[in-house]
Amino acid sequence: MTSTLALADEITVALPELKLLIANRWVASESGKTFTTINPSTGEEICQVAEADAADVERAVRAARSAFEHGPWRSMRASERGRLLHRLADLIESNVDQLARLESLDNGKPVSVAKAVDVAKTVACYRYFAGWADKVHGKTIPIDGDFLCYTRHEPMGVVGQIIPWNFPMLMMAWKLAPALATGNTVVLKPAEQTPLTALRIGELILEAGFPEGVVNVLPGFGPTAGAAIASHMDVDKVAFTGSTEVGHLIMEAAAKSNLKQVTLELGGKSPNIIFEDVDLDEAVEGAHMGLFSNQGQSCCAGSRVFVEETIYEQFVERSIARASKRVVGDPFDPRTELGPLVDQTQFDRVTGYIESGHREGATLACGGKRIGNRGYFIQPTVFADVQDDMQIAREEIFGPIMSVISFKSLDEVIARANRTKYGLAAAVWTRDIKKALAVANGVRAGTVWVNCYNVMDTRSPFGGYKQSGIGRELGEYGLQQYTQVKAVIAKL
Ligand code: NAI
Ligand code: MG
Repeated sequence: MTSTLALADEITVALPELKLLIANRWVASESGKTFTTINPSTGEEICQVAEADAADVERAVRAARSAFEHGPWRSMRASERGRLLHRLADLIESNVDQLARLESLDNGKPVSVAKAVDVAKTVACYRYFAGWADKVHGKTIPIDGDFLCYTRHEPMGVVGQIIPWNFPMLMMAWKLAPALATGNTVVLKPAEQTPLTALRIGELILEAGFPEGVVNVLPGFGPTAGAAIASHMDVDKVAFTGSTEVGHLIMEAAAKSNLKQVTLELGGKSPNIIFEDVDLDEAVEGAHMGLFSNQGQSCCAGSRVFVEETIYEQFVERSIARASKRVVGDPFDPRTELGPLVDQTQFDRVTGYIESGHREGATLACGGKRIGNRGYFIQPTVFADVQDDMQIAREEIFGPIMSVISFKSLDEVIARANRTKYGLAAAVWTRDIKKALAVANGVRAGTVWVNCYNVMDTRSPFGGYKQSGIGRELGEYGLQQYTQVKAVIAKL
């Protein structure tokens, strides 16, 4: 710990080492540059963090390559890798309050949520993949002739990982845990908006005793450090979560360099389909949580709420009542349900969509305004009478803005739900099993929730169809993204 930050109301947050983690040492960036990370509740600086660029990526990749080729990591027993991951999970768990505070401070999410969701799921993720470490194995295959054919699932090598700011610690876990369980070494870049928990977890990685160079953490910006990772000739794979726009750039960089493998988890515009036979209060609450959780800054947010026309008016009325009750405020206040957006850019983007909704003729049913005059708080907002071709119904908003859209029939709503470039998630609410399964089968999305929303589990795969991504994270499917399959054929 290098310093402590005192906030209002006698809350203090211990800041981690604010440098780059390369080869198990905390170092300044080669350029000596630092950047500011801000507190989205106030817009004020929290601290300066060392800023990595291409030269630091170079150093980190060399450390990771050396750790992969020559370090003890490669020859270590798989069960020992699992033990290290378990130790890391334990350390994270015993620092739950501190990590929740850091995440809340840097990102703006309510500290209660950071603790119950972000830290808890992070711990679960490391534990789950720790269990896999010594259970990754191939098959023997009876091929023609007198041969022994078997497969080995080998690590990819040096893996680059680029993390977003909406769930910083958790998205780091989704990528780091399977990569380490399968024996890769990692160069990881947290988002420039939220570097603090990645650095604290870097400290815990050292405390857990991971060998030198296995995990390297490089805070920095996308077009510099991020692009250097994506285009590096000695990085074997890159895993990215973020915008679809940058997803294209990552794939292009991979294509133009060494054809490294990619896993992309990108944007979404997920349909949440509500039929007239539901328990209305349950569906209203489900749609509310499906959109407003994490300030709406969620890739799988149910941002197109399709409601059967017979219950449309009622649904909108109750959604307004629910949204108006959502408690917005200081993320460190235990009553807060909705904190600020992450930064000025995101604030401007979201307010731009509110204006666009107005302009294109949607009905602003509630909210729509900034709260206070510092920080990036926006009222929970509901738009009614939204049409499919409006910008707010087509583009990812990533903010607390719900669009309620009316529909008439099953076939119609499936077709409309699919009329998007995205395909990350979808949900359907109905008591009719036939309708539920018709939607589940008919919607082109990586996850479909039936009578629930945002149910995520470390064991269940997550990822997108279409421009929502490539590959899957979590579960056994996620594990597969971090190994190469080698076939060995021996003459008998
Ligand atoms: P972004 O895609 O620019 O940032 C995500 C990560 O990619 C950050 O670590 C960033 O530094 C890095 N990055 C940016 N440009 C890069 C490049 N050229 N090469 C390599 N890495 C690069 O997303 P941004 O600008 O923060 O947010 C824009 C929108 O993206 C949001 O409004 C939201 O719609 C979407 N988004 C989606 C996320 C998801 O969970 N799928 C997460 C974050 C943003
Ligand atoms: Mg910040």
